[in-house]
Amino acid sequence: ESTLGAAAAQSGRYFGVAIAANRLSDSTYATIAAREFNSVTAENEMKIDATEPQRGQFNFTAADRVYNWAVQNGKEVRGHTLAWHSQQPGWMQSLSGSALRQAMIDHINGVMAHYKGKIAQWDVVNEAFADGSSGARRDSNLERTGSDWIEVAFRTARAADPSAKLCYNDYNVEDWTWAKTQAMYRMVRDFKQRGVPIDCVGFQSHFNSGSPYNSNFRTTLQNFAALGVDVAVTELDIQGAPSSTYANVVNDCLAVSRCLGVTVWGVRDSDSWRSGDTPLLFNNDGSKKPAYTAVLNAL
Ligand code: XIL
Repeated sequence: ESTLGAAAAQSGRYFGVAIAANRLSDSTYATIAAREFNSVTAENEMKIDATEPQRGQFNFTAADRVYNWAVQNGKEVRGHTLAWHSQQPGWMQSLSGSALRQAMIDHINGVMAHYKGKIAQWDVVNEAFADGSSGARRDSNLERTGSDWIEVAFRTARAADPSAKLCYNDYNVEDWTWAKTQAMYRMVRDFKQRGVPIDCVGFQSHFNSGSPYNSNFRTTLQNFAALGVDVAVTELDIQGAPSSTYANVVNDCLAVSRCLGVTVWGVRDSDSWRSGDTPLLFNNDGSKKPAYTAVLNAL
């Protein structure tokens, strides 16, 4: 196959990309994105601050630009993200307790209703665990509403759109030996045991020298899949874009039957949220980097 998406589709998977609405007018960007990928995640446009800038007043202008571009170009869409401590609008940052809990529920219902039946996977909850060795939840205004906020978010999401796969998404959870990975594993196991509706786990996979790729990532994916959830690589970028590491990540996904696909977090290095790391598959001029070829050959 000659594109990443077509190559991934040979095994029933997707190869996706994060899209920024304001870059779609750049023809080099849009040409690569349309050609190479068969899944799209909005890089920022479906987040809480973008979709509910004032309480109860939803705005899907930018989100729909990404969504409509994806559908017009034949791509499926991952929704990102409904409940998160970051990129909250000011009104939400100032809420607490039962008012914040209700605002979270109302937000999930409002966004999921707009896209009902149209989203392949939703990142319902993002980044709820703390870094480091504690294995604890991250402190946040949402966590302070009560530690059941995550399962409430998932139950709300299931009722709002029963057709979407519901994912928990996090970073620094790729290395099986890390406490954060173990904490996330215990939560997913508990949700499955108690019937909390969760369908998938997203591994962001922002690899760099501080949180490097480890070959036990495949073990992590296998162990989560064995709990009865799908897994996905949701925000892949790798400092320096070493071809071997990119190929390893693809091979890890391909080795796990429940791995749905891989999403890279941007098109060209210049589009990256950490462009100084040159972590992506395309150069700034739109040419393919060695890591591109390594990924294509691995798929
Ligand atoms: C990042 C975007 O890429 C940036 O443009 C934005 O300024 C901050 O958020 N984990 C996530 C993503 O789940 O939503 C983040 O995206 C990167 C880390």
